[in-house]
Amino acid sequence: MGAGEQVWIFDTTLRDGEQSPGVALTVAEKVEIALQLERLGVDFIEAGFPISSPSDFESVREIAGQVRGSRIAALARCESQDIEAALRALEPAKNPRLHVFIATSPVHMQAKLKLTPDQVLARIEASVREAHTHVDDVEFSAEDATRSEPQFLVEAAQAAYAAGARTINIPDTVGYAMSEEYGELITLLRQGLPDDAVLSVHCHDDLGLAVANSLAGVKAGARQVEVAVNGIGERAGNAALEEVAVALSARADHWDLCHGLQMGEIYRTSQLVSQRTGMAVQANKAIVGANAFRHESGIHQDGMLKDPRTYEFLDAASLGQGSRLVLGKHSGRHALRDRLERLGIAYTSEQLHRMQSRIKALAEGKRAIGDQELYGLWQEMAREKTGESRGV
Ligand code: KIV
Ligand code: ZN
Repeated sequence: MGAGEQVWIFDTTLRDGEQSPGVALTVAEKVEIALQLERLGVDFIEAGFPISSPSDFESVREIAGQVRGSRIAALARCESQDIEAALRALEPAKNPRLHVFIATSPVHMQAKLKLTPDQVLARIEASVREAHTHVDDVEFSAEDATRSEPQFLVEAAQAAYAAGARTINIPDTVGYAMSEEYGELITLLRQGLPDDAVLSVHCHDDLGLAVANSLAGVKAGARQVEVAVNGIGERAGNAALEEVAVALSARADHWDLCHGLQMGEIYRTSQLVSQRTGMAVQANKAIVGANAFRHESGIHQDGMLKDPRTYEFLDAASLGQGSRLVLGKHSGRHALRDRLERLGIAYTSEQLHRMQSRIKALAEGKRAIGDQELYGLWQEMAREKTGESRGV
């Protein structure tokens, strides 16, 4: 995409995304997703919050040992025990990043932290300095930044910069900001910090504005965007990686910015995250939903047949969606292989053969087998196999 300045893609699917209610990934699943994020080309993978649980610690350590193409970040509160745990988990990483955070809004400082603004500034100073004595790359986040007093937020960001943080993240923690306001806040911070500070955006979707707000931040000068695949995350979720990435690349004429993602891996990544987290992607979800490139009405179909540019400006194939070969009772092995590969499902030729017979039987009297159904079938076959080997 565009030849302009680089926007760093910081993926938090495995940290904020995993905080989605009801989601609990195993260490092996997190490693599998991290390896796919590496193939996708994200710059940073926030692999977890090591102090929060032994399994978070272990996942960060495993991912830090196995992933080389993306930099690995771990989260820590502004507390020594958190920083020490994050540092231990990051030991195997090639280019570790320590991400420290503390809240800066009046309600968080008073009700949750029970600290005065001066005490919060002192914590930022001490924690960023402590982190920076061990790793070069320190990111600081001012939790609930958008409900913080703007001048205090600037002071907090300056304190973090002075102590060694070069990435300053401005989370809209509760998804409260309007896009214009958020852009203005980023402008204010841009003016208050030296040029080598990278401003980062981290927006939640409580008002359905996470992607719009992230882009408003980029417009105002932020050069790191924190995202999660399929927009998963606390409550209504985070800004969706695929939406931010496609907005930047499909409208490169508007942005003149670049990012390093392999766009052909977008769909496979989305499917993998959906399958492993158990969080379905809604059919009308932008970019990766089942209906995102389908056309139903006669007028639209007529336009598409005459010239696909009438109703599509994005190329589904370039996002890894490929042509939608229908899987039904008449379809062959090529279509099944194509679909399994697009979904990131590994198979042996024996499994392919068995799956094909099951699809033929299932598709009798039906129009087609969808992705979710195919995945369900694959899981069912895997369970049968485990049952067989246990003699059940
Ligand atoms: O939303 C938030 O404030 C966060 C921070 C910990 C970065 O996730
Ligand atoms: Zn968050």
